[in-house]
Amino acid sequence: MYAIASLLKKVFLLGILFFLGSSEGGPNNLHIHDGATTAEIIAGDIFFEIIEPVELEYTYRIRPAKDFGAPFNESFYIEHVPLVPIQPKFGCTTPNNIEDIEGNVALIERGECSFKMKAIIAEKAGAQAVIITDVSKPTEEYFIEMIDDDSADEVNIPAAFLMGKNGIMITTTLQQLKRSYAIINLPVNLTFTPVHEMNQPPWLGW
Ligand SMILES: *[C@@H]1O[C@H](CO)[C@@H](O)[C@H](O)[C@H]1NC(C)=O
Ligand SMILES: *[C@@H]1O[C@H](CO)[C@@H](O)[C@H](O)[C@H]1NC(C)=O
Repeated sequence: MYAIASLLKKVFLLGILFFLGSSEGGPNNLHIHDGATTAEIIAGDIFFEIIEPVELEYTYRIRPAKDFGAPFNESFYIEHVPLVPIQPKFGCTTPNNIEDIEGNVALIERGECSFKMKAIIAEKAGAQAVIITDVSKPTEEYFIEMIDDDSADEVNIPAAFLMGKNGIMITTTLQQLKRSYAIINLPVNLTFTPVHEMNQPPWLGW
């Protein structure tokens, strides 16, 4: 029970962000919701799993963008697809590694331009989906709501936010292993998986 209570507290530390991708602004509005059910923990969020490299073989929770991008609906399922850190890492310009991004999932760091702009650029580069993370706050365990920036452009691929603590572990582990990508399945359906069986990354302290 302690593990579940601890999980609930952490998962519901919710950063609401109304600005573009700057690191300022941060999780100013933190809300702790106690007493939620397991189903409510998952509500709206989805999971992906890394199946390679072995050092990163866990399931990761991500929060779909609030009001832009395609939905992660029943027709969206990708299996054994590379998750590729974009270069340069903020993904605000045409990527240097566009050949690696094409057909795959782009991993992009928060900052320098809006979340939506990053998704548009990843889509143009041929990504199937985009995952954005805030590695500037590697010790914090919160989700950011990614909202539309009111530009006229549409995003036609799904976009989601990955908490910074996971983002930094993924990017630094790949760097250490001199790998340019991980292999993922997205989504994994954990709706009826008990919290303690979720194979969460050990560095989250759950
Ligand atoms: C899922 O979303 C895509 C993109 O919006 C859409 O084309 C597709 O029809 C949707 N599928 C279902 C089953 O709703
Ligand atoms: C997850 O699996 C459960 C049980 O098999 C199913 O009822 C539910 O619709 C699935 N959810 C998604 C998002 O696929």
